[in-house]
Amino acid sequence: MQVMAHRGYSSQAPENTLAAFKKAIAFGCQWIELDVQLTADQIPVVIHDQTLERCTDGVGKIADLTFNELTQYSAGHWFDQTFSDETVPSLEATLQLAKQHHINLNIELKLYPEDDETLLCQRVAAVIDAAGIAKEQLLFSSFSVTALAAMQHIMPEIRRGLLWETMPADAFDTLTMLGAFSVHCDYRHLNRQQAAAIKQRGYALYCYTPNQPLEVEGHWQWGVDMMITDKPHRYVYKKQ
Ligand code: G3P
Ligand code: MG
Repeated sequence: MQVMAHRGYSSQAPENTLAAFKKAIAFGCQWIELDVQLTADQIPVVIHDQTLERCTDGVGKIADLTFNELTQYSAGHWFDQTFSDETVPSLEATLQLAKQHHINLNIELKLYPEDDETLLCQRVAAVIDAAGIAKEQLLFSSFSVTALAAMQHIMPEIRRGLLWETMPADAFDTLTMLGAFSVHCDYRHLNRQQAAAIKQRGYALYCYTPNQPLEVEGHWQWGVDMMITDKPHRYVYKKQ
């Protein structure tokens, strides 16, 4: 299937929870995208926002809470009460799930102002090493060039994908410097010429986050390899 479940199967279960990841696995997705950041006690956890309010019943910043404090809160009740028992998962638990089910993870290094980029990379790498998961199952992505450069140094064997909203002028210099594997573009801003240039240079090309297949019908012809979407079922005709 040429789709990646964005934050897990996030239209069917609360985003970035084990429930959402299990739904993606059950549906047959081969890739899951997730967002990772650090708690106050430096545990890599899977959550998108800088703060708890939108996706949990807590308040405040992720970076200000320990893992034990963070997991007191429900990360699923906001979506539906049937998911009330879901908590913000650790990256470690997520890796074990992926290892068990042989599913691939696109680990987005999510950095907010004042976050310690090097520390996030080091802690993520340590958890991956300890998990014993096959490195081929993993891909790092980030909007931060410096975070990907840090990962290139720390874990060069794991592939790197650069996220863009719009393609920068120095795009190919940066991709070369990073030894990047893939480019992840906002589907609304990518055009045919850019896609052709990216593919011509041999990069995998992914688009986020098209939830309406008709909006990206043309993108497949441009050479886009995979759509990162909340709604994998809408692309079932692309199932291979
Ligand atoms: O990796 C694609 C997409 O997740 C990037 O944006 O904000 O959903 O993490 P965001
Ligand atoms: Mg993301």
